Amino acid sequence: MHVLEMRDVSRKYSFKRYFWQRKKVIEAVKGVTLSIEQGTCLGLVGESGCGKTTLGKIAAGIEKPDQGEILLMGSSMLSSPRSQRLLMRKELQMVFQDCTGSVNPRHTAGKVIGEPIRNFLKLNKDEEEGMVEKLLETVGLNKEDRHKYPGQFSGGQLQRVCIARALAVKPMLIVLDEPLSSLDVSVQAQILNLLADLKKEYGLSYLFISHDIEAVYYLSDALAVMYLGNVVEYIADISMFEALCHPYAEKLLSSVLPADPGKIKNMEVKNDENEKPGTGPGGCSYARRCARASARCLDTAPGLKEVSEKHYVACHHY
Ligand SMILES: Nc1ncnc2c1ncn2[C@@H]1O[C@H](COP(=O)(O)OP(=O)(O)OP(=O)(O)O)[C@@H](O)[C@H]1O
Ligand code: SF4
Ligand SMILES: [Mg+2]
Repeated sequence: MHVLEMRDVSRKYSFKRYFWQRKKVIEAVKGVTLSIEQGTCLGLVGESGCGKTTLGKIAAGIEKPDQGEILLMGSSMLSSPRSQRLLMRKELQMVFQDCTGSVNPRHTAGKVIGEPIRNFLKLNKDEEEGMVEKLLETVGLNKEDRHKYPGQFSGGQLQRVCIARALAVKPMLIVLDEPLSSLDVSVQAQILNLLADLKKEYGLSYLFISHDIEAVYYLSDALAVMYLGNVVEYIADISMFEALCHPYAEKLLSSVLPADPGKIKNMEVKNDENEKPGTGPGGCSYARRCARASARCLDTAPGLKEVSEKHYVACHHY
């Protein structure tokens, strides 16, 4: 059963840097279709600015798509009645990269974790306090920590507080947007293990956005690769990692693909300054960067197609 399905979702942003400029439109997410099986983790990778956070926010119900449909356990999130939509919001939580920016520095950890409990669950004060203490222990902190303020925690401890807040209402899906990148390596491993344990223990589903391929490989069951707002490759089974074959995915992973997948290195995904992404309207958005581009690639955008079982690639080459 799919816990979440995103069907053909798109999101554009229009902005202008100076008031005399004309508005620019950025298509952050372009017609993405993805689903997450209950109790599994979908890893999402791609270079900076390709639309991962936007898609994560859409999945978490924080951002509304301009187009498309989102189904939570088969029910539409966009066209359901308001009361039902509020209940659905409880099932979707998000943990951000910058945990410092996502908590009020003047609220104690107890108040931060208690916020979704107060919003969604009808508990009295003692019950709320008991639940907060339990959650702190679940994420490896002490119940006395509920009195501390965000500034009194280390980065790793504060990320645990944010994970506790996301867990508070027992959601079906947690969107993890680069939850490790602000932490040092030893703490990253602790948080990753915590996330893996919680997934197993509570049957949680994750959308895990990361630049750290090793972490993605460790935590994910399926993997999607994004490029300029599109999903260009998807494998339903992470053990097919070495079968990734889209020219962009190959390039993205070439620096980290090991002989032994257990020894995958951390990846820093960057735009190559000398390469101009994008092509004319209608063509493959990777055409100008692609060594395999043919005439067809310049005028026809490839759609995702199944090239082998549970393996989808958007490329005319396959
Ligand atoms: N609120 C906004 N207003 C205007 N443009 C936006 C907004 N949010 C995102 N964008 C633009 O949409 C595109 C996708 O942004 P997004 O944050 O989703 O990328 P990302 O893949 O998460 O990048 P990173 O890896 O750097 O976090 C970018 O070009 C970004 O500048
Ligand atoms: S469709 Fe063409 S340009 Fe696009 S990735 Fe495939 S081969 Fe390269
Ligand atoms: Mg992002």
